[in-house]
Amino acid sequence: MVKSIDIAKVAFLLVLFVSTTRAQSIFDVTKDGAKANGPDINAALMSTWKKACASAMPSKVLIPKGIFSLSPVTLEGPCKAPIEVQVQGTLKALSGATKTTEDGGWVTFQQIEGFTLSGGGIFDGQGGSSWGACGNDYCKQLPINMRFDFITNGLVQDVTSLNSKQFHVNVLGCKNFSFRRFTVTAPGDSKNTDGIHIGRSSGIEIIDSKIGTGDDCISIGGGAQNVSITKVTCGPGHGISVGSLGQYEKEEPVVGITVKGCTLTNTDNGMRIKTWPASYAGSASNMHFEDVTMVNVSNPIIIDQSYCPHNDCNAKLPSRVKINNVSFKNIRGTSATPVAVKLDCSSGSPCQGVELDNIDLKYIGKEGSITSECSNVRPKTIGVQSALACGSPTAAHTGKA
Ligand SMILES: *[C@@H]1O[C@H](CO)[C@@H](O)[C@H](O)[C@H]1NC(C)=O
Ligand SMILES: *[C@@H]1O[C@H](CO)[C@@H](O)[C@H](O)[C@H]1NC(C)=O
Ligand SMILES: *[C@@H]1O[C@H](CO)[C@@H](O)[C@H](O)[C@H]1NC(C)=O
Ligand SMILES: *[C@@H]1O[C@H](CO)[C@@H](O)[C@H](O)[C@H]1NC(C)=O
Repeated sequence: MVKSIDIAKVAFLLVLFVSTTRAQSIFDVTKDGAKANGPDINAALMSTWKKACASAMPSKVLIPKGIFSLSPVTLEGPCKAPIEVQVQGTLKALSGATKTTEDGGWVTFQQIEGFTLSGGGIFDGQGGSSWGACGNDYCKQLPINMRFDFITNGLVQDVTSLNSKQFHVNVLGCKNFSFRRFTVTAPGDSKNTDGIHIGRSSGIEIIDSKIGTGDDCISIGGGAQNVSITKVTCGPGHGISVGSLGQYEKEEPVVGITVKGCTLTNTDNGMRIKTWPASYAGSASNMHFEDVTMVNVSNPIIIDQSYCPHNDCNAKLPSRVKINNVSFKNIRGTSATPVAVKLDCSSGSPCQGVELDNIDLKYIGKEGSITSECSNVRPKTIGVQSALACGSPTAAHTGKA
């Protein structure tokens, strides 16, 4: 008798525990005065966020269907429990406005542990009127659609970033943070609109996502460690880039980048590693690109250690960024220029441990035949036609996986 009561008690408590840990308190921004097709919802969103963030139970901030106008806002933790922001509707930035949050965002999420952004909604940066006026310095002052700063255990899924005025997404100081089914959309001629930029972060995953924009699809900066990019399609844009590195003193190394199962279409570059000449010392290592399809890509495989886009560097002094342990494996498709493989490594610190394995690229233009240009590197090549092998003898492919 006593025993069965105890069992019933335990079972009841267990059910209570499971249901409370799964439950989420929902905080609807329209309950705090936000109106679709109405004025700026900034104040409403801030007040909804504050309540949700103070909740001892996991909470959800809901932005329902509809179009909501929003001026720059910072949603800041730490929060008492995991928090989700579910955007079902469209958030619209003010068009032509250059105001940003303190750290340069339109919507900044920061200092949160246990964060989810979801809902199928759209962050519309309304960048159309800004890109034309974008010169070098002015660009950098424009708002970044979404900033994720110092977030641990985060997930962004089923969200679209549209027409950002500057970078679409900046990830800084994050740990264990994933993007799934994330979409970036902007025209190919929108300036400085990188899709996702990652710096000083570790355990970052981008999976099943679609990025079309005017600048890098994904760019990886100093201090990025353990980044995995899987099943992402890029184009238009400038492709997937590590760098540019070496511009800043004491830049943290880039270590552990995996790109797998991606397709790049009509992009300027496929997979690129770029470092400045006359640079500070730095390093980028353990970068592996595998099972990637190129469709009419101008520079499918490129290491560029004399990257100097505005010709304002001393290109005669070599880069001091050391590139080590890089592989390109099972890369197929078409190149829009004859130089399908370009490995321009630093004379001051030549690339080491570079491997080309099973490269099957075709040049689809009419200006000569496909070729490779390489300096200060002796890649190991397996199953690469001699024109693309950087002058190295190439071993036949063994057929091993
Ligand atoms: C990483 O973050 C996810 C949330 O996106 C969480 O479910 C998972 O437990 C975290 N992993 C670790 C090792 O903390
Ligand atoms: C790398 O990141 C993934 C998540 O993206 C995580 O599962 C894994 O444990 C991390 N590994 C290291 C060595 O940090
Ligand atoms: C090269 O990178 C891989 C994957 O990150 C790593 O497991 C391996 O140890 C690295 N090799 C060297 C020689 O650093
Ligand atoms: C291939 O790329 C080149 C250069 O970016 C572009 O001019 C051309 O229109 C593209 N061709 C196709 C078929 O998309």
